[in-house]
Amino acid sequence: MNVHAPALAKAHSFDEQTLAFAADVIDDLSQHPKRLSPKYFYDAAGSELFEQITRLPEYYPTRTELGILRDRGCAISAFVPDGSALVEFGAGATTKVRLLLNECAVGAYVPVDISGDFLQAQADALRQDFPTLDVHPVTADFTAPFALPEAVSAMPKIGFFPGSTLGNFEPHEACAFLRSARNILGQGAQMVIGVDLEKDERVLYAAYNDKAGVTARFNLNVLQRINRELGGNFDLSAFIHRAIYNRDRHRIEMHLISRKAQTVRVLGRSFAFRAGESIHTENSYKYSLERFTALARGAGWTPRHCWTDAAAMFSVHALEASD
Ligand code: AVJ
Repeated sequence: MNVHAPALAKAHSFDEQTLAFAADVIDDLSQHPKRLSPKYFYDAAGSELFEQITRLPEYYPTRTELGILRDRGCAISAFVPDGSALVEFGAGATTKVRLLLNECAVGAYVPVDISGDFLQAQADALRQDFPTLDVHPVTADFTAPFALPEAVSAMPKIGFFPGSTLGNFEPHEACAFLRSARNILGQGAQMVIGVDLEKDERVLYAAYNDKAGVTARFNLNVLQRINRELGGNFDLSAFIHRAIYNRDRHRIEMHLISRKAQTVRVLGRSFAFRAGESIHTENSYKYSLERFTALARGAGWTPRHCWTDAAAMFSVHALEASD
């Protein structure tokens, strides 16, 4: 929680999550350059838009990773000890974990996510389809330390972090996350993690600038969310979506560019924009296999195996906690 939170808590009757959102928005729009955190994309509308993105012809990551999990499920399951507790960091749609649950004799599933309502609905659906599976949802921010449920303490642990969500972190944050996951899962743990790969820039560019404009709506939706939840007055038609590939830093950057000089009000504060000024809304880092395995080693994990699709668009890694 940042410096703005106490004053905001006094002035508004926000719940804890909205308070954190408000404090971050004020802090991030006060920066030079302005920014917003990609974790705030995923309100109900944003989650639905992201689902649409995963089905776009240009957006290769989701279907490529699903293909790897489907084709290599048997080989991946060899890294999952029978009776393991499978801990998923950030649990969205359960499509991917279902592929693992079908292949592996997992004893318990522990989805960890900040959004408790969504988590419960997904947990209920899984209990229906896997009646013998113990499901123990944990409502927590998975980027911070959290405790595993008592019920799984004696089981071997397998972490699952699909979707290249790691790409949203700065390299030092990615290292800190992997280290923290190592500590939470403990000695002898395994981890299966999906990581998007560097590739032809035109392929990357197209994936984040789709013809149908869904990614643009997804990006702009965060302004709508600020309007709705924080009483902002962003004019969405006065901003445009821009995604570029930053070659030196191996990352796609998403921005919202102000079409004109304008002032926007949020929670009683004014934020002035120059024409052409950007709000940096997301980084999506792309890794080479070598850079990812070096990162994992530096964070206390030993790379055991890596699977890619035939075109080497996406990678799935099996890691083991180093002693
Ligand atoms: C969910 C973070 C993996 O970076 O590709 C999709 C989010 N942003 N289109 C990604 C996203 C724009 C996505 N991740």
